[in-house]
Amino acid sequence: MKPKIYITRKLPDIVVDRLREVCEVSMWEEEEKPVTREVLELEIRKVDGLLCTVSDTIDESLMNEASHLKIISNMAVGYNNIDINAASEKGIMVTNTPGVLTETTADLTFALLMATARRLIESSDYLRDGKWKSWYPMQLTGQDINGSTLGIIGMGRIGEALVKRAKGFDMKVLYSNRSRKLKVEEELGIEYVDKETLLQQSDFVCVLVPLTPETKNIIDKEELALMKSSSVLINTARGGVVNEKALYDALSSNKIWAAGLDVFEQEPVPTDHPLLTLPNVVAIPHIGSSSIPTRLRMAQLAATNLMDGVLGEIPKYLVK
Ligand code: DGY
Repeated sequence: MKPKIYITRKLPDIVVDRLREVCEVSMWEEEEKPVTREVLELEIRKVDGLLCTVSDTIDESLMNEASHLKIISNMAVGYNNIDINAASEKGIMVTNTPGVLTETTADLTFALLMATARRLIESSDYLRDGKWKSWYPMQLTGQDINGSTLGIIGMGRIGEALVKRAKGFDMKVLYSNRSRKLKVEEELGIEYVDKETLLQQSDFVCVLVPLTPETKNIIDKEELALMKSSSVLINTARGGVVNEKALYDALSSNKIWAAGLDVFEQEPVPTDHPLLTLPNVVAIPHIGSSSIPTRLRMAQLAATNLMDGVLGEIPKYLVK
């Protein structure tokens, strides 16, 4: 008998067909709407494997419904949506999809940095709204990217990939991290500093840490107060690593110059969120890894992890 699996969001046919070869597959067929909790509670009781996404909260009470679940395969590198301690206590494997999205997420992080620094979205709206009446010297002026200082908080794979892009723009790169990375420093020509120094000296601060109890609000009022009034904050990690209320206060009082945000504490971010009222915020809907090839690679890797788990193998990308 084939193992049973449930997929919480419509995946491309090519991935589902591969899964169907070895598994009995049920899938939430809607592409844009997330699976309801009710359906998830029913489905999780029946299956050996679950393939989920960052928008699904897989908590202990949901896992309590599962009687023979072996694996939760998250189609993401981050896994803060899953209670991994509860999974581990219940002997359920949890996997993620690292590596395949590194370059694409670094591309988007740099694109967001550029769009925010040079006010691209605001400029485009200005033109479309008929506000472009003439050329004038200080029209829509932004911040220089070339030759500036980039501070990266969290030097993992995506951080390293971001450095390569920054070097192409002659940026000086500072980083802070739980542990110092001497080899990376030497190879990429970057400088390790403490978080305070990084915040004080950087023109651009990019947060690239996973969301954990230790990194929650790693950028809060005190950190924002250390930044330059001309500096730009970029967050493509997780909403919870930046205190949004403190960020709103810093941006609206011009304590920092602008922010580019791909992620929010609550997603989708409510359209009446105070941050969205600010012209110096560029906000995009969690699209860091969203290129066609990368999303396909992530789906395929999540499928491979899942198949390994339900067929009794140890998946390569086991988180816990
Ligand atoms: C991840 O992989 O963690 C991203 O945030 C989802 O693309």
